[in-house]
Amino acid sequence: MEQQLREIEKDALSAIDRAQDSKTLQELKIKFLGRKGRLTSILKSLGSLPKEQRPLAGKLSNQIKTRIEKAIQKRLEALKDLVPGPELIKGFDPTLPGRRLPPGHLHPITQVLNEVCLVFEKMGFSVAQGPEIELDFYNFEALNIPPDHPARDMQDTFYIDDKVLLRTHTSPIQIRTMEKMSPPVRIIAPGKVYRCDSDVTHTPMFHQVEGLMVDRNVSFSHLKGILTHFAQEVFDKDTSVRFRPSFFPFTEPSAEIDIQCVMCRGKGCRVCSQTGWLEVLGAGLVHPAVFRHVDIDPEEYSGFAFGLGIERIAMLRYGINDIRLFYDNDLRFLNQF
Ligand code: PHE
Repeated sequence: MEQQLREIEKDALSAIDRAQDSKTLQELKIKFLGRKGRLTSILKSLGSLPKEQRPLAGKLSNQIKTRIEKAIQKRLEALKDLVPGPELIKGFDPTLPGRRLPPGHLHPITQVLNEVCLVFEKMGFSVAQGPEIELDFYNFEALNIPPDHPARDMQDTFYIDDKVLLRTHTSPIQIRTMEKMSPPVRIIAPGKVYRCDSDVTHTPMFHQVEGLMVDRNVSFSHLKGILTHFAQEVFDKDTSVRFRPSFFPFTEPSAEIDIQCVMCRGKGCRVCSQTGWLEVLGAGLVHPAVFRHVDIDPEEYSGFAFGLGIERIAMLRYGINDIRLFYDNDLRFLNQF
């Protein structure tokens, strides 16, 4: 009998200790001390014991009963001090579905970048990449921009040391690609570029997509066809494109390419400074000096290259007038995309 009583006590106390809420404690109370509880049944059977054992067994049962009651009381108090479990919060419905975390989405610049790449991938261009920390050789020299060339002033370069810098454009990937690959070459190279510049239309880091196509008989008309198609895919299907003569050391001839103003459709407005045109690209035919740097014979091959700024395109697409909005990480802005 004593053995049985001790066992009940042990079971009860450990169960009480483990209980996490008042409901469980209530159930334990019934299980051990209730009318049909384990301790109660023992008390009921006391009568069947030999007379001389009854007082001791009765006393022990009562002590255990008190200890169990006290343990329940103590545990209840302890639970109150804990953070209330759901069942302790009044009116809480644990069957309700949980609150959803709002899913994130791609940054608007990433979205536009992916879209631009897709337009060219559909035309058979594959994606190439290069390092953001670049050698002066790839960023300038091999692109026909020697150390004292004035074109270096156009690009406010972040130098790491004499020979190493943050690339100022994606054009070094032209060189890296042609070093590894012989014609035909048809690549685009998206990526981050860096210039020490900051105002409503410039951030120190921005994104470009470079394009390069090299083969026999590649001409300006191929460039024009491809860029016209690009403008019509990314903007409107009847957007027209205009080529203006320009200069880049690594292309000859060079052009700046405008698209018909997306705001006023060419009539002239504030965004296009009344010209009806917006500049979106630099391009040209690959300069023979560039080919010579990568051992491609300019007599045999020709090619075109272009570079476009993704932020510029995103701003025009969405009518955004301050480029810095892209990098403030204000969710009220970003959630609109
Ligand atoms: N790299 C040039 C720039 O960043 C753009 C360009 C690329 C021009 C390819 C011509 C050919 O301004």
